[in-house]
Amino acid sequence: MPLSPGQWLGHAAGEGPRCYDGAKLIRFCAADFNRTSWEHPFLIEFSDVGLRYGNGPEILKDLTFSIEPGSFHFLTGPSGAGKTSLLRLLLLSTKPSRGKVTMFGEDVGNLDQDSLLQMRRHIGIVFQEFRLLDHLTTFENVALPLRVLGQPESEYRPNVIELLEWVGLGERMHALPTLLSGGEKQRAAIARAVIARPKVLLADEPTGNVDPDLSSRLVHLFAELNRTLGMTIILATHELPLLDRFAYPRMVLNKGELTIHD
Ligand SMILES: Nc1ncnc2c1ncn2[C@@H]1O[C@H](COP(=O)(O)OP(=O)(O)OP(=O)(O)O)[C@@H](O)[C@H]1O
Ligand SMILES: [Mg+2]
Repeated sequence: MPLSPGQWLGHAAGEGPRCYDGAKLIRFCAADFNRTSWEHPFLIEFSDVGLRYGNGPEILKDLTFSIEPGSFHFLTGPSGAGKTSLLRLLLLSTKPSRGKVTMFGEDVGNLDQDSLLQMRRHIGIVFQEFRLLDHLTTFENVALPLRVLGQPESEYRPNVIELLEWVGLGERMHALPTLLSGGEKQRAAIARAVIARPKVLLADEPTGNVDPDLSSRLVHLFAELNRTLGMTIILATHELPLLDRFAYPRMVLNKGELTIHD
């Protein structure tokens, strides 16, 4: 029987999980997270992780923690404490200078470029500065991750429209981002981050540019994604009122050191 893309191929002797990506065998089976999370209770594990940029001082020191699938954490700490740097490690866009990062049960340091890209598809991010493409409509911006994955428009169109309606942008889907308000841009950025149903959603100060009322509504949106889709969420914020209003555990960075308050 021919292999189908994403097909689970079990563990090869002495190696990690394997799957078929449509063209060749790859070590990391992105399509079968239930199986990997069953084998590994933690979605993310950091062990003695340190990060420095170039020859500079260590920005993150001895980070040892684990994150369970389906959890929601705030990431907080003063400006310059390393929140964005930690999110870059979690996004797999920066490598640690020392220590071990395990995601989806795989030691990230052992993955080749293809496997990292496969894994990266399961991690969504909302940047503070939106990063929407101004020459594409709101609909096209949100659909972009699916287009990149090669889905035809006929397939993704209803899903994109449904999500845009869900975030309250149904009426604005044909508008260019330059015509959207700050809050609308932020909701478009959230929709784009979640359209491909990532397992992990990272958000870097997603409420930084909006008023307190909208801030709270945006966190409700994240809470809903966490509750209904089981998305694991790490949301960086400085805003004390938000931290007080939502009873999620806090990862607190201070001078590069992390403590978790449940
Ligand atoms: N690409 C980089 N090259 C060198 N140093 C960097 C780089 N990015 C961040 N830093 C330094 O790392 C430290 C932590 O920065 P980071 O942006 O992670 O902090 P942050 O907690 O996100 O701050 P903020 O709340 O202001 O966004 C800072 O001292 C910063 O100057
Ligand atoms: Mg930052």
